[in-house]
Amino acid sequence: MSESISYKNNQLHVEGIGCQSLVERFGSPLYVYSKSQLVNNWQQFQRHWPSPHKLCYAVKANSNLAVLQVLAHQGAGFDIVSGGELQRVLAAGGKPQSIVFSGVAKSKDEIILALETGIGCFNVESEAELERIQDIAAAMNKQAPVSLRVNPDVDAKTHPYIATGMKANKFGIGMAQSKAVFKKAAQLTNIRLIGADCHIGSQIMTPEPFLDAAKRMFELLVDLKKDGIELTHLDLGGGFGVSYQNETPLDKAQYLTELVEMAKDFPNVTLMLEPGRAIAANAGVLLTSVEYIKPSEDKRFVLVDAGMNDMLRPSLYQAWHDIVPVKEKSDEAPQISDIVGPVCETGDFLGHARHLNVAQDDILAVKHAGAYGFTMASNYNSRGRPAEVMVSGNDARLVRERENFDDLIRGEHLLDKDYI
Ligand code: LLP
Repeated sequence: MSESISYKNNQLHVEGIGCQSLVERFGSPLYVYSKSQLVNNWQQFQRHWPSPHKLCYAVKANSNLAVLQVLAHQGAGFDIVSGGELQRVLAAGGKPQSIVFSGVAKSKDEIILALETGIGCFNVESEAELERIQDIAAAMNKQAPVSLRVNPDVDAKTHPYIATGMKANKFGIGMAQSKAVFKKAAQLTNIRLIGADCHIGSQIMTPEPFLDAAKRMFELLVDLKKDGIELTHLDLGGGFGVSYQNETPLDKAQYLTELVEMAKDFPNVTLMLEPGRAIAANAGVLLTSVEYIKPSEDKRFVLVDAGMNDMLRPSLYQAWHDIVPVKEKSDEAPQISDIVGPVCETGDFLGHARHLNVAQDDILAVKHAGAYGFTMASNYNSRGRPAEVMVSGNDARLVRERENFDDLIRGEHLLDKDYI
């Protein structure tokens, strides 16, 4: 349990506010974030990451404007993967120069927007993308700052859907091929080649794959220097694992210290990291109300009002999230239950075979829901997405309204009568 989300007097609190009262005030299901936990998580990284090295928060983990605003206030940089994320960062007060733009298939419009904005770096993933950026930058009479994403071919030992750094993945340029692309980039007139980057995957629990990738990337810098290409920026991506179910979390302090040590041989190189989950996951919970209890022949189903459309991780990755009652009931025997949502899919579940003591109308909290929770939510089954609330001390602010029917059909058009 995070420090800021814990039981006080048998009631689950986010900082100073009871979860029950949050649901009474803002409705259910509800995403709730702790501002102090976000800030603490950010500062923990910074503590071991001396200037000039930089941190860019991976916006995809949680892109709520208020979350971005809190991090921008901490001086965060941002790692984005779309024009939408770029505009969110700007709307939240992030500085254009502090933005790196990742992603395998950047569109022309996204590249134009990023060049107009003056972002800090394009993390380029293919030769074709490099050529497209060169053409657009030339037409706009601009210089595009570029890093090339290299695929270091390291096994991150994580869920196959979130491993990105092996040859078989669609991401980055293969190590062997990359030298030719660096040489080409160095010669393009509207490309300012500044760096190299990699990202080997997400939810990685040990430092070895990261250090292995870092070593290969530093070797690449040495090789490139021999060819007259001197890079000043090395971005090692995100992927720092968090503990969802009593796993030993990655020792960030040790890893960051080792990286800074490695970088000492490269005094002109600024390191960059792109943490997402490690900043947001334990700062958020998803509160959900029990609609019905349904005993069946061999199972007990707890039907809740949050489904896979609100929280996709269990269905998509068979991911474990702790699910706890917001009122602790220590004196009764728990029953083994499947916690399932209202969506018409057998794969719609939040947790299987959980030992829980719950009754109709109780409220449950899905923990570690601050990262890849709301951002992966959808309107499947025409369900409005939940509201989001940010708590600071004893103060709770609505930072995103619950979607209503008007929101669901915004932009849709009925056909004219003669067209039906
Ligand atoms: N940088 C790049 C280029 C990335 O692709 C990602 C995540 C990150 C940084 C941030 O990684 P983090 O520090 O959050 O692990 N939806 C999945 C996670 C997908 C991650 C995709 N890329 C999940 O819910 O587990």
